[in-house]
Amino acid sequence: MNFYDLFMSPLEKNILAKIRKDIISKAFGNVLEIGYGTGVNFQYYNHTAVKSISALDIKPSALVVKTEIPLNFFEGKAEDLPFVDESFDTVVETLVFCSVKNPKNAVKEVWRVLKPGGLFIFTDHVLPEGKNMAALFKATNTIWPKIAGGCNLTREPHKLIEASGFVLEESGKSGHDIFRWGIGRKEAS
Ligand SMILES: C[S@@+](CC[C@H](N)C(=O)[O-])C[C@H]1O[C@@H](n2cnc3c(N)ncnc32)[C@H](O)[C@@H]1O
Repeated sequence: MNFYDLFMSPLEKNILAKIRKDIISKAFGNVLEIGYGTGVNFQYYNHTAVKSISALDIKPSALVVKTEIPLNFFEGKAEDLPFVDESFDTVVETLVFCSVKNPKNAVKEVWRVLKPGGLFIFTDHVLPEGKNMAALFKATNTIWPKIAGGCNLTREPHKLIEASGFVLEESGKSGHDIFRWGIGRKEAS
């Protein structure tokens, strides 16, 4: 277990597992999951609603949780997705936008590969709203990315997602505002 996993394990048990269960179960059709890691989300997909999962990561892992849903693995970057426009019904991203180099481009790419009417399901840790917590996160972030595989504690991807045209049908925060989650729709024009 690396430093990041050690830090995250109590949060995973007490906060993230519930968020994952609630939001991943809303995915439908052909799903793209960006930054699948070890596939921790695979267990939460609805087997009836999801036809296939395309799982992409910049660093594909050999140890991945099993699922009965047809699964294809891709090596690639969130900022430059190797898929044609309007390929997916749902795109999922959990705890990835803290470490992508260019989150703005990553959100643009999600929009591009989603079909009109498709869903973007996400959760990330973000810069907390409270002044003291925000100051602590900013101070810790001076070294954090170096010891936690490029993870940033000061990102606010939920704001980028809202600003880029997704209509948030559901959203929320957990864990003293540290985690934001949401389900955004790319409305058919
Ligand atoms: C903290 S892990 C999260 C894994 C899993 N999604 C979860 O919820 O536990 C971040 C994952 O994103 C991947 N990743 C980081 N930057 C990426 C990028 N630019 N494009 C695609 N995947 C990326 C990492 O390799 C890693 O597997």
